[in-house]
Amino acid sequence: MTNPVSTLKIHRWDAPLDSAAAAAATLELERGSVLFLPRLHFALEESEHRFLSPRWLEGTAKNVSYDPRRAHIAHTSATGDDRAELVVMMERFAQHARALVTTVCSHYREKLSYGLASFRPVETRGRETSRKKDDTRLHVDAFASRPNQGSRILRVFSNVKPDGAPRVWEIGEPFDAMAQHFSSRVPPPTAGSAWLLEKLHITKGRRSPYDHIMLGLHDAAKLDEDYQRASQRTHIEFPAQSTWMVFTDRVMHSALAGQFLLEQTFYLPVAAMLDERNSPLRILENIYQRQLA
Ligand code: SIN
Ligand code: FE
Repeated sequence: MTNPVSTLKIHRWDAPLDSAAAAAATLELERGSVLFLPRLHFALEESEHRFLSPRWLEGTAKNVSYDPRRAHIAHTSATGDDRAELVVMMERFAQHARALVTTVCSHYREKLSYGLASFRPVETRGRETSRKKDDTRLHVDAFASRPNQGSRILRVFSNVKPDGAPRVWEIGEPFDAMAQHFSSRVPPPTAGSAWLLEKLHITKGRRSPYDHIMLGLHDAAKLDEDYQRASQRTHIEFPAQSTWMVFTDRVMHSALAGQFLLEQTFYLPVAAMLDERNSPLRILENIYQRQLA
């Protein structure tokens, strides 16, 4: 049985880890643990404290996003020097997160690629949103517009709230159990829909059967009121100034409360894992008895 949380008390983003400790931590992540780094703190510069406010969001956006591959920031109202400084802060987080993942998961180093980073300055509790977008409901991550053909989604989170309030999560039942529970409720894709979604630029690239099923599981779980109320879960509080990482495509999670979070997404090909049988792709292929990507 996998522990919902395993703890690693490093206090540097590039802390040297011996290869046995790195492999053990990597395997725990692959098997569905959250790796909690209570001593690892993303320090803001004095002048960056002004960014701890929802006023830097553009329009109705809930996150500022940053793409480290293009040094491009989006969904922010910041202009001029403010915008440039916000880029510096998010770029620094992206680099720290990459240093962390490549030391803890040294095995992934060559194969890891950057996705987007986000800064989440709105209080999560009580935020109005649709049920499918509501991350206070248990779910696995699956991106509607960015099919990934089975690649893993590994995310690094830092609670940068200065005054002590934790980010509160719940971790749900193991992926296998969740997938067994909901797979029969995922309708098959309509013929030609993956082609059409790509053609209309609704998706960036072709949505594979894997992507279709993952989105279906995400939606089915979020829309099931009984499941949301009564399924197995573990409550976790991530204190202010702490960091954690998790494969959010495998670990059922929900964020109940908290404000001021930095998050960096990475993608990892299944073949780069220590044991690819731990991937949602291979688990789902076992359930469906066919190739899905
Ligand atoms: C999520 O990935 O579902 C939300 C995580 C968070 O905002 O804490
Ligand atoms: Fe999520």
